[in-house]
Amino acid sequence: MERENFGSRFGVLVALAGSAVGLGNLWRFPYLVGSYGGAAFIFVYIFFVFILCLPILFSEVIVGRRSHSNAYGAFKKLAPGTKWKWLGAVSVFTPIIVVSYYSVIGGWSLEYLFKACTFSFTDTSTQSQLGEMFDNFITSVWAPLFGHTLFLFLTGLVIVAGVKSGIEKFGKIMMPVLFILVVFIAIRSMTLPGAFDGLIYLFKPDFSKIDASVCSAALGQAFFSLSLGVGTMLTYASYIRKDENIAASSTYTAVSDFIFALIASCAILPAVFAFGLNPQEGPGLVFKTLPFIFSHMPLGGIVAILFFLALIVAAITSSISLYEVGVAYLVEEKHMSRKSASLVVFLIAWIMGVFCSLSFGPLSDVKILGQTIFNFFDKLSANFLMPVGGLLIVIFVGWQMKKADVIDEFTNGGSIRANNRISGFVYFMIRYICPLVVLAVFLSNLFF
Ligand code: TRP
Repeated sequence: MERENFGSRFGVLVALAGSAVGLGNLWRFPYLVGSYGGAAFIFVYIFFVFILCLPILFSEVIVGRRSHSNAYGAFKKLAPGTKWKWLGAVSVFTPIIVVSYYSVIGGWSLEYLFKACTFSFTDTSTQSQLGEMFDNFITSVWAPLFGHTLFLFLTGLVIVAGVKSGIEKFGKIMMPVLFILVVFIAIRSMTLPGAFDGLIYLFKPDFSKIDASVCSAALGQAFFSLSLGVGTMLTYASYIRKDENIAASSTYTAVSDFIFALIASCAILPAVFAFGLNPQEGPGLVFKTLPFIFSHMPLGGIVAILFFLALIVAAITSSISLYEVGVAYLVEEKHMSRKSASLVVFLIAWIMGVFCSLSFGPLSDVKILGQTIFNFFDKLSANFLMPVGGLLIVIFVGWQMKKADVIDEFTNGGSIRANNRISGFVYFMIRYICPLVVLAVFLSNLFF
């Protein structure tokens, strides 16, 4: 059977950017910025994204497009008969772990959209009531499970529709919608009285705040936000046609991802400051602090609906990229139909997600290496599998593949002049600098 490709340049961009822009931008980035000192964190983050992670993204995309295969098949094809296929195997399984807990949070977003639509946050709600509402919800059994199931099911529907008429089409409609939603909310938030302090916090760096923990949080976030190290970008890149400029698509992806993160922060932190609330709330920022703000500001009811809608749209375009990795593997390596492959991935991710979801409530005493199930999956993938995956992929491209092949893929056989010019530098980064820096930060995380 003929392998599907993305149909247009814009289609490639919305797919890659759709994977990158997700809960990482709207939920994780703003609370990290809030907790790790504002502008200083953003500064370090920019450095990691554009100097270090962009070459890693190039590497994944090079492997994907060169092989035109799923994450497992890619390594088998480019390095036949070697142990690299194990990296492929891990790259197929990790996204399933990520999608299982990602869809739990996707499910929370669905519940909060429902709450926003039924006006459950009222101007008489106090902050502690809304905090309690969230805690009661996530520790309960059925409602979060329902959300998780529905979210994963919606993701599966887009996947079953296929690469071009599912993933690409969904992204083409949803990414522009998402952009408009987030910009609208940012404008509302920045025009609140007292919002200016939030903007100062976001844009005026205090470099004394930069320390090792800020650096490692920023690097982890850069990996997560760019969907690196676990085979998702590799799989999407395998659907890119040979005549597309992969350096440009990857760079636009990183730029859009950063812009979304920044606008999301402008949507959230100025409002937090305007209400004199604590920016260091952490993971609860979006689900506890924001509903309070929405319920106390003019137009808040509508803004709340739009915000949770944006959160869901962003989350689905990302979860489809995670889901697709396993499906592409099963279809190509195990010769399943797309439908049965989607069902198998759904079942595995659903079961793991059930445990993640319950680990906030009834299973909160079950600990793996001292962590609840949800935190264990999150830490295992974000602090271990992703950086190690990223490290191995740059080693693969820098040391296992032939230099001529890498440059050939990066420049479309030497035909793209701008890529020819930077290819030497990019190769140097991939071969020497990226592995060293990722290794250094990874080890410092492990031991400190
Ligand atoms: N990047 C997405 C976000 O910011 C999440 C995501 C999609 C992801 N694919 C990934 C994270 C692969 C890690 C690895 O929400």
